[in-house]
Amino acid sequence: MSRGRRVLVVGCGWISRLVHLPYLAGLRATGGLRSLYVADTDPERAARAARDFDAEMYTGPLEGAGADLVLAATPPVSHAALTLQALAAGARVIVEKPLALTVEDAAAVLAAARRHEGGVYPLYTMRHRPEAALIRQALAQRIGPAREIRASWLRRDGVPATQGGMEPGVLWDLGSHLVDLALWLPDWCGATGTARAEHQHPAAATIGDLRAGWQCQEPADQVVPAPKWHGVRAEATLDAGHLLRVEASWAAPGIRRDLSRIDIIGERATLTWRTVLGWSPDRRTVPGPALWITDVEGREQVLLHDQPRDPRVEYTAQLDAAFAALISGDAVGPLEAACASTALLHAMRTSLDTAAPAPFDIRN
Ligand SMILES: NC(=O)c1ccc[n+]([C@@H]2O[C@H](COP(=O)([O-])OP(=O)(O)OC[C@H]3O[C@@H](n4cnc5c(N)ncnc54)[C@H](O)[C@@H]3O)[C@@H](O)[C@H]2O)c1
Repeated sequence: MSRGRRVLVVGCGWISRLVHLPYLAGLRATGGLRSLYVADTDPERAARAARDFDAEMYTGPLEGAGADLVLAATPPVSHAALTLQALAAGARVIVEKPLALTVEDAAAVLAAARRHEGGVYPLYTMRHRPEAALIRQALAQRIGPAREIRASWLRRDGVPATQGGMEPGVLWDLGSHLVDLALWLPDWCGATGTARAEHQHPAAATIGDLRAGWQCQEPADQVVPAPKWHGVRAEATLDAGHLLRVEASWAAPGIRRDLSRIDIIGERATLTWRTVLGWSPDRRTVPGPALWITDVEGREQVLLHDQPRDPRVEYTAQLDAAFAALISGDAVGPLEAACASTALLHAMRTSLDTAAPAPFDIRN
């Protein structure tokens, strides 16, 4: 970054075109970076991104790019390998969530980030919602130590229309945000325990009507196969006696609007965050209150009535935070938390595959 901010975006799909490339093109326009390169295994997508964002196409190996910063926005299966390659080439890395799909890959990224001078900033966007700061403050001052967290994200018709969203399944697509928030907000990151998970909402053969409408325009050329399952339910018992319950669905039957809800049950009160996460248009109409506390006598106090309606707020904030952290060399905390949530999600995934409880160790 200090060498002149030569930035390479790897993966020019939906989220890159919607968020990362406009942000980086804007940064270049104000002198915040010198040159912008794009790469994609699909040369047409790379060419289109280069044309639309006035970037240069890069087709060589990552090691030869001479990039100060690599932003990886490819499907999750490639995140860890790309991050390791970029670090080895001397770049800093911003990587889309999930950081990795296995505890081993996450640990390898953390070890490499510690070994190399460059840092890694994982994009767990929901940490950058304005509510997250309010929640952390309320946890410290009003709620007391958290004992149980229930987190759900139910969409009525939000099956991803992109390979990057669909391929890893709903646990990694929506569930990774919820699990990450559940560990990040109360700082439950150093623990061991046991996880269980089960599939929910078997997918019908045709899903045309259930595709996320807000993803369907760009790129229009993608053929994404249907998933087997739309939903997942998972639970984790942490050694400190903490309990986490998670439910996520791309297409939950019988709901009229998308809804996410996180309840944090503390020793002194319960905090409830009711919202719509992400890009669903239901976000514009979800009624308040968005955030409130219920004390042990049942008295409620609203902390925030209306949630932010425009998702660009948190998507821009996460990139501002990523640049600030990588420039100051202060990206270790966010990365360690991402390793913890990856380890827990890996255990949940193992439980889905084996139909048995799976142990986890989220100490870094
Ligand atoms: N933070 C958020 O809220 C948020 C929102 C949307 C997507 N995402 C994440 O962003 C990532 C991308 O999602 P998307 O919806 O944009 O997916 P997408 O399928 O639209 O785009 C992925 C792009 O990467 C390209 N690609 C695949 N493998 C590659 C490789 N090895 N090297 C170079 N290019 C490669 C594909 O050709 C495609 O153009 C996923 O990890 C997803 O979870 C995060």
